Amino acid sequence: MDLKDKIQVYEDFPKDGISFKDINSLILNPSAFQYVIDEMAKVAKALDANLVAIPEARGYIFGTPLAYLIGAGLVPVRKPGKLPGEVSSVAYDLEYGSNIVEIQKNAIKPGDRAIVVDDLLATGGTLMATTRLIEKLGGEIAGIITLIELTELGGRDLLKDYFVHSIVTYPY
Ligand code: PRP
Ligand code: MG
Repeated sequence: MDLKDKIQVYEDFPKDGISFKDINSLILNPSAFQYVIDEMAKVAKALDANLVAIPEARGYIFGTPLAYLIGAGLVPVRKPGKLPGEVSSVAYDLEYGSNIVEIQKNAIKPGDRAIVVDDLLATGGTLMATTRLIEKLGGEIAGIITLIELTELGGRDLLKDYFVHSIVTYPY
């Protein structure tokens, strides 16, 4: 399936110079959405994970059906101030701007193996911060799965210690 055909691109959004890949046009298409989740599940099943960690907000879209299909628990990775109880935080830089991600400390036990799932690998900052959160709490990273990878932003190099699988790459 030609997924690029389903992903609408908006130039200069959210600011000048950014070529925004909009996954909303893909998830609106039932067969494209099913295809993406099935492709992610083929890869995920080999990674022997008991958890799927999902960065808010767009990671939820792909990570939730994937966790259901492979029989894993879900760990929401949230923007600051959303989670009750004891939380662990990591700050990171974005393709545009900066951010903090948090997870609940009781979400990860030593020996847990998590797949991190997101819509997009750009600079890798979000995924790197997520892997650090999980490892800080004693979990292992089974792998990283994203729908889109922007290959020229160096995210794969940043994440070189991990297995990284993306379904669609830009620019080629
Ligand atoms: C976007 C995207 C990825 C991240 C990729 O999330 O959904 O999570 O940026 O960029 P990076 O590889 O440079 O970190 P964003 O924080 O914009 O918000 P959203 O998922 O809540 O829409
Ligand atoms: Mg995101």
